[in-house]
Amino acid sequence: MAERTFVMIKPDAVKRGLIGEIIARFERKGFRIKALKMKWLTREEAEKLYEVHRGKPFFEELVNFITSGPVVAMILEGPSAIEVVRLMIGATDGRKAAPGTIRGDYALDIGANVIHASDSRESFEREYKVFFTDEEIVGDY
Ligand code: RTP
Ligand code: MG
Repeated sequence: MAERTFVMIKPDAVKRGLIGEIIARFERKGFRIKALKMKWLTREEAEKLYEVHRGKPFFEELVNFITSGPVVAMILEGPSAIEVVRLMIGATDGRKAAPGTIRGDYALDIGANVIHASDSRESFEREYKVFFTDEEIVGDY
């Protein structure tokens, strides 16, 4: 059954010129891009996106990092999109992420780790709304 997930290419990857390579992986896997946007998040928007981590020791650093440059956000659709995309991005710490995953191939850091993806239906519902209105999601194609 088709499911949607939210993906965000982080500022480190945008600055390194990896936008195309990352989007290409999702296209080749078979996901449909339903919405796509480049945006420089405000502090408030970044805090909303990472709301679940408020109060944790790395929260401040995380918000600083995610607002340090523009990001590219997208909504992807396909079978079991949430689970499959999480498998494709790999473990949070780039040093531990398996080769072949996006973080495994492009990241060496736990903070600057290239990409974010929703980890549940609930996260998806909160996260995509930081970037997109429902009108910005295209119809089936
Ligand atoms: P994301 O939300 O960005 O997709 O990453 P994730 O699910 O793999 O990891 P999560 O636990 O949600 O953490 C969000 C981001 O916070 C940074 N972090 N730093 N220093 C630390 O112990 C630590 N733990 C997490 C990472 O940049 C992670 O992507
Ligand atoms: Mg997370």
